[in-house]
Amino acid sequence: MHFSAVLLVGLALLAPAPLPAQAGAAPQPGQRVILVTGATSGLGREVAIRLAAGGAHVILHGRDAKRGAEVLREIEQAGKGSARFYAADFASNAEVRGFAERILRDYDRLHVLVNNAGIGSVPPEREVTAEGHELRFQVNYLSTVLLTRLLLPRLLASSPARVVNVSSLSASPVDFDDVMIAKNYTSGRAYGQSKLAQVMFTFDLAAELEGKGVTVNALHPATLMPTGMVLRSGRPPRSTIDDGARAVLQLVNEDMGTGRFFNSLTEGRAHAQAYDVAARDRLKRVTEELIGLR
Ligand SMILES: NC(=O)c1ccc[n+]([C@@H]2O[C@H](COP(=O)([O-])OP(=O)(O)OC[C@H]3O[C@@H](n4cnc5c(N)ncnc54)[C@H](OP(=O)(O)O)[C@@H]3O)[C@@H](O)[C@H]2O)c1
Repeated sequence: MHFSAVLLVGLALLAPAPLPAQAGAAPQPGQRVILVTGATSGLGREVAIRLAAGGAHVILHGRDAKRGAEVLREIEQAGKGSARFYAADFASNAEVRGFAERILRDYDRLHVLVNNAGIGSVPPEREVTAEGHELRFQVNYLSTVLLTRLLLPRLLASSPARVVNVSSLSASPVDFDDVMIAKNYTSGRAYGQSKLAQVMFTFDLAAELEGKGVTVNALHPATLMPTGMVLRSGRPPRSTIDDGARAVLQLVNEDMGTGRFFNSLTEGRAHAQAYDVAARDRLKRVTEELIGLR
């Protein structure tokens, strides 16, 4: 082989592999673009289907490509709106970064980010990610912050834009001496800590973005909807997925202010630690270290 051809082959091998193209349609000019994380099951799935039915282009996210393809097919068969599916495991900062990179590559606008993906309190064991982070804190909280921060330039460029953080009334205060809950672990406590941390992030980010055209709100969608995490827990459902979907859609579609916590459809009160500015500052510093972003 000629030397220059060898050089070209060598350079091609050194170059990063191209990111895979996504199935599904690209958004039309003027179409609202909405990213729903955890759209392969339960609440996120329902919200994504309803948003597409309303004409939006929905970026579907989940871990499971097969279930992602099923939601995509359901949206395409309904014939309204459009969607694409992207897979990423939020147990890893690197996967969140790769996912954000693909979104920034494929989309020049993003009007709403719905941070919905999450794991509940089943299985009850303490699990630690490859990066050494307690799993629920990573998936439910750290990945929410990292994804939002990485996509923020697109949201700002698409203003008016919205961030909706699907949190919970379940709340356990963050213990700054043991954020990874190495001692006295229960999955309920880990879930509650991650969900309260999401609300603390919501209040901080909303203040940071005041007047910049991006609102940020959090909500408890509904109590014990019959979704994957609740069915796995064996607890009897106490509300419907429709209840939760209506609460999320209100924050996606209506101007509900910013920096607020909603208990379903009305403004509610979060755990006291969410209003403690010193605790929020501390959490912000810890978080920046853990996600490697300042
Ligand atoms: N259900 C309730 O009553 C209730 C009450 C309050 C708040 N919430 C909140 O509502 C949100 C949605 O949960 P749900 O009730 O609809 O439960 P769900 O049916 O279990 O759905 C959870 C979604 O998150 C995704 N997910 C889980 N682990 C992930 C990971 N490591 N990486 C990426 N995605 C992951 C799941 O993907 P897979 O399909 O791959 O598992 C699924 O799409 C959660 O944030 C939850 O905390 C629910």
